[in-house]
Amino acid sequence: RMEVTETFAGISLPGHLHTEESLRFASSFQFRDTDVVIVTYPKSGTTWMQEILTLIHSKGDLEPAKTIPNWARAPWLEHTYFKDMLQETSGPRLITTHLPCQVLAPALRKSKAKVIYMARNPKDVVVSFYHFHKMAKFLPDPGSFEDFLVRFLDGTVQYGSWFDHVKGWLSQRAELGLFYITYEEVHKELERSVERLADWLGCPLQPEEIRAIQQHCSFSSMRENAMVNYTLIPCEIMDHSQGRFMRKGTVPAPPHPLPPGSDGSKGPWLIPSDPCGRMEPARRP
Ligand code: PPS
Repeated sequence: RMEVTETFAGISLPGHLHTEESLRFASSFQFRDTDVVIVTYPKSGTTWMQEILTLIHSKGDLEPAKTIPNWARAPWLEHTYFKDMLQETSGPRLITTHLPCQVLAPALRKSKAKVIYMARNPKDVVVSFYHFHKMAKFLPDPGSFEDFLVRFLDGTVQYGSWFDHVKGWLSQRAELGLFYITYEEVHKELERSVERLADWLGCPLQPEEIRAIQQHCSFSSMRENAMVNYTLIPCEIMDHSQGRFMRKGTVPAPPHPLPPGSDGSKGPWLIPSDPCGRMEPARRP
């Protein structure tokens, strides 16, 4: 395993992807008004959003999604590999980031870049993240799920606390004009989500374009697309014998009835409140 860790803004990040220089570059980045920025805590639907936005920009033309890897279409701002790519792109850029709000908000406030924040139920994030740790050699060995869950709840996993990430970004919702969407909403209503995003981005689509996007962005299509399923990454970096990046892509049914008035897609999310498994609604982040 490549255990090197970079500590930045109080959180640990994988050293294989982040360096002091790449993080300095990210935090002082000059966003352009034409940039579209996808912000997520890991395992919250980043790749899905990258695919949807690629296809909104191409008006449903599948060519870029089928021929260019997702990280080249929507590079990670903070990764050491993409600095030149980001600087060289002259047209509208699609940019991805997992960085916390306090790091990026000052730079974002200086531009009219459009920011999309996608969140996912933390119970599913932690499971997905745990399995991803087993594959990704640039992340530490997760140990048992129970131990990993404790570290996730403590916010000491790589990329820091899910709670702080969501709360931090949503606290800037009005100021940054964030488009807030959940994995659960996209899962429940992909077509409607594509339509809403396209309208917000000022790229309205024809019904047949939306249908093409909807088909291509289904879990089964994306799972087979080598440009997004990470099978292009060599085994020294992602051990494909440990599982698939596109693992399940589901929204499990809640174990207990949801509180009245909640449809489960927008929260309140349920988090375990005690080790006996009684569940109670989390406070809205
Ligand atoms: S990462 O590593 O942070 O970029 O991961 P991220 O892309 O945010 O999250 C990966 C999870 O998203 C699921 N996924 C999808 N679910 C439903 N439909 C589609 N099209 C889709 N694409 C990606 C992926 O399967 C991971 O979730 P889990 O629960 O592990 O399956």
